[in-house]
Amino acid sequence: MPAELACFQAACGARFPITEVIYTCPRCGGLLEVAYSGPSMPASTLRQLWRSRRLNESLLDRSGVWRYREMLPFLDDYSTVVSLGEGNTPLLEAPGAARWAGLDRLAFKHQGFNPSGSFKDNGMTCGVAQALRLGMRRVACVSTGNTSASMAAYAAAAGLEAFVFVPQGNIAFGKLAQALEYGARTFQVEANFDQILALVRTLADRLGIYLLNSVNPFRIEGQKTIVIEMMEQRDWNPPEWIVLPGGNLGNAAAFGKALRELLAAGLISRLPRLAIIQAEGAAPFYNLVRRGHGPLEPVSNPETLATAIRIGDPVSWPKALHELRATNGLVETVSEAEIATAKAVIGRCGIGCEPASATTLAGIRKLRAAGIIGASDDVVAVLTGHLLKDPDYIYRYHTGSLCTPSGQAIQTVYANKPVAVPCDADRIAALIAG
Ligand code: F0G
Repeated sequence: MPAELACFQAACGARFPITEVIYTCPRCGGLLEVAYSGPSMPASTLRQLWRSRRLNESLLDRSGVWRYREMLPFLDDYSTVVSLGEGNTPLLEAPGAARWAGLDRLAFKHQGFNPSGSFKDNGMTCGVAQALRLGMRRVACVSTGNTSASMAAYAAAAGLEAFVFVPQGNIAFGKLAQALEYGARTFQVEANFDQILALVRTLADRLGIYLLNSVNPFRIEGQKTIVIEMMEQRDWNPPEWIVLPGGNLGNAAAFGKALRELLAAGLISRLPRLAIIQAEGAAPFYNLVRRGHGPLEPVSNPETLATAIRIGDPVSWPKALHELRATNGLVETVSEAEIATAKAVIGRCGIGCEPASATTLAGIRKLRAAGIIGASDDVVAVLTGHLLKDPDYIYRYHTGSLCTPSGQAIQTVYANKPVAVPCDADRIAALIAG
């Protein structure tokens, strides 16, 4: 079956050609997903093929996304793909973080090692490939920072004009700096992420701009490779848990789709459980799952210092809910203080990440304490963004000036304040000794 766009609403199920410029179902407004029959090769052949591609010099074969192209066969021609060397991110054992959370072992799949420093690159190479295939010359996104950094990079590399919309004052500086440096026209809008997304959808239609938010189903295809690569790194042995932060819920949608497709293709023999962690102040999906029935009720004024996931109306919630049920998964929330401490613990492992990523470790500790995750469970947490994305948060943490959005001081257990010293060897030696 050639690739098609399929409405995700089971009751609708409409299908459209893969080359149609649509983001939601024109019939019912539901989310779209890319649908195809699974790979035609046996699992053992695929495993060998993917491994052997790493040894090639071709950027397409070395890419940690396009290496797995049999799992995302929506293009007819790969010659126009723009790769910046995305994916190929490490799976890092972190004994210190495991101990802190009460686990025997814990591994981090660190997506911050991507070219623009976040997991968005896995999806963006696919979204931009589709934009090029459709002949679109302009691309846009609204972002809490990482999508815009990634889109700006890939658009620049592909020669596309990029328009970035970000909430004024609420994105980390490292991310804004990236969009500017990669040359995207950047608009700071006095509204929150959810309000700007509605605005940008209208503008994209009106101005013929291709929308590269995670509502774009081709981005989701690329993000599937995070899990595919993770399974390959584990020799196709799924963990019991995959823990990830939840914001707009694109990753939850992508991970679940990847896992179901890997199972159907015989590449894994069982599904891990997804554990999605949200910040307490921006937890509409947690509220939905607790309530047990839909639709999702948006949080009108989401608040968290983990600005990447400061989202009150996550667009991919129907897909995320489906994947949560398919994997017998769960959702948890964590406080600002829990995120801050977990982040510092990840730093002390020599690994580091941005605040949103640290929700994973904070969530694991909470689920471990509640007896939901067992001490000997096999757990992988996905760190979504690089430590340097948000240096301001780090500086405030280590100098003891980090406050919650409502102004309460956060206790900084692992603060590591820089010490001002005179240029005097004796005084410094005394300080070190003392
Ligand atoms: N972690 C980081 C570092 C992110 O940037 C995001 C989302 C998430 C987690 C949440 O992932 O949306 O798939 O649930 N950032 C988006 C952006 C919204 O605009 O960069 P999700």
